[in-house]
Amino acid sequence: MHRDCERILIDEKELKEICKRLGKQISDDFRDSDKKLLLVCILKGSLIFTADLMREIDIPCEIDFMKASSYGDRTISNGTVHISLDLKKQDLSDYNIVIIEDILDTGNTLYHLINVLEGRGCDTIKLCVLLDKPERRERPIIVDYEGKVIPDEFVIGYGLDYNEEYRNLPYVGILKPEVYENN
Ligand code: IMP
Ligand code: MG
Repeated sequence: MHRDCERILIDEKELKEICKRLGKQISDDFRDSDKKLLLVCILKGSLIFTADLMREIDIPCEIDFMKASSYGDRTISNGTVHISLDLKKQDLSDYNIVIIEDILDTGNTLYHLINVLEGRGCDTIKLCVLLDKPERRERPIIVDYEGKVIPDEFVIGYGLDYNEEYRNLPYVGILKPEVYENN
């Protein structure tokens, strides 16, 4: 285990099981649709989750990327959301969309992104999140595909960062508070 990690919250085996379960649900829900499936990976944190999840989806799907941030380099949200990378296609009327997000915290990022996508002619927008911290929610958000509900702790690994570090850890772990308290 990494020395800045207090304990492992979700190990590799459980992450794989989560991806399998969610991949099956998504495949079954869209198998008979006459629209195409577009997975929207929210960078950077959802990179690894999306890569594993899409290999558990057994129906045709496309992928694109968006980047939004409500965070500076701290562990608390400032509530403002900025889109710094947008989808290639602006007309989404031929698609069912599944947004893939690493973690749902206050909900400000997803609330804003869903509003943007809803304005582009897409009537089916579903949300898939790996981790959910419901205690910190500030916006009403409905999660369609949920990996795991976790306590209000700052987590790292499997794509999730603190100050751009730790994304490459193969598990989700709790960051030692002294790491961010000393910054
Ligand atoms: P929200 O807008 O407050 O829901 O924040 C969502 C974003 O904040 C996520 O996509 C993450 O990038 C970041 N975030 C929230 N909680 C954590 C955490 O515990 N570890 C790492 N990043 C987090
Ligand atoms: Mg982040």
